[in-house]
Amino acid sequence: MKRRNFLKSTAAGAASLWLGTSAKASSFFKPSAAGKMVVISSSNGLRATGRAMELMQQGHDALDSVIAGVNIVESDPNDMTVGYGGLPNEDGVVQLDSCCMHGPTHNAGAVGALEGIKNPSLVARLVMERTDHVLLVGQGALRFARAHGFKEENLLTDKARRAWLHWKEKRKDNDWFPPEDADRDKNGKAALDIPFTYGTITCLGLDGNGDISGVTTTSGLSYKIPGRVGDSPIIGAGLYVDNEVGACGSTGRGEENLKNLTCHLIVEFMRQGMSPQKACMAGLKRVVEKAKYMPRLMKDNGRPAFNIRYYAINKAGEFGGVSIYGPAEYALHDGKENKMRKAEYLYEWKK
Ligand code: GLY
Repeated sequence: MKRRNFLKSTAAGAASLWLGTSAKASSFFKPSAAGKMVVISSSNGLRATGRAMELMQQGHDALDSVIAGVNIVESDPNDMTVGYGGLPNEDGVVQLDSCCMHGPTHNAGAVGALEGIKNPSLVARLVMERTDHVLLVGQGALRFARAHGFKEENLLTDKARRAWLHWKEKRKDNDWFPPEDADRDKNGKAALDIPFTYGTITCLGLDGNGDISGVTTTSGLSYKIPGRVGDSPIIGAGLYVDNEVGACGSTGRGEENLKNLTCHLIVEFMRQGMSPQKACMAGLKRVVEKAKYMPRLMKDNGRPAFNIRYYAINKAGEFGGVSIYGPAEYALHDGKENKMRKAEYLYEWKK
């Protein structure tokens, strides 16, 4: 029997999108072996965990649910790390990365450097379900999205454009000047407020069938070299799911994650018997150890000059979250309560 589900997506403009063959309508709903549903997300994901749990409690599968959750944040112009309103690359163009992984089929889809489509996670899902491939990038990913009826739009909000302009104006050795009336620091330099981020939301769910899926989506490193792709669309780096074990997602500096494939590593640590919390911390420590090989990644005090965070769940519904720097938080819905939890961290900010 074909199991199709036509969930109404929360993403504006995406309501007509087909949400896949993996979804299980409520008639297929069975309590999980563990009897527990859980959704975890990065600190910007409290709305995502709330929406995803609501859908899972209605009987929808984890993949539908976590994607619908992150669509809220992708579509939000106020979140400058993901989707519409995300900070652009050095040319002022928003380029998005995303991937998803479906535990029950061990299948995955991803897009990299996608322009003009505010919900890249929906395109990633279609790569998984409607091609024989896992990853499409750039113009090819855009043409694929167009073929599936996605609407192209300008993703650069005025707020993000101003941030990018100020970033250009503050760079040394260039011909772009800050506004005359800009606030000045004590050296007379324009004190422009320039947000900087590696961005990203990740969301992982264990549904009522005991199945696990996940999604990661981002506008990536702000003001990046055009074409730069981070960890978020790379299976094993920004996300990994093994339906027999658990799942891990990441936010923060993608380059270190790419070099260690840390989400895969953390799931393997869980397979060996570690709890999600212990596995996340072991993965985080591996990244820090390896970063020491490259002095420019370390500060004078011997601590990393970057941050990275991991979030994980296992088949039993246990969860964990860690960060190099803290205090740090993550969003978690345990089936009863949707709230922020404290993440374990290695170092305090600014020390
Ligand atoms: N983790 C997001 C990025 O580095 O692009």
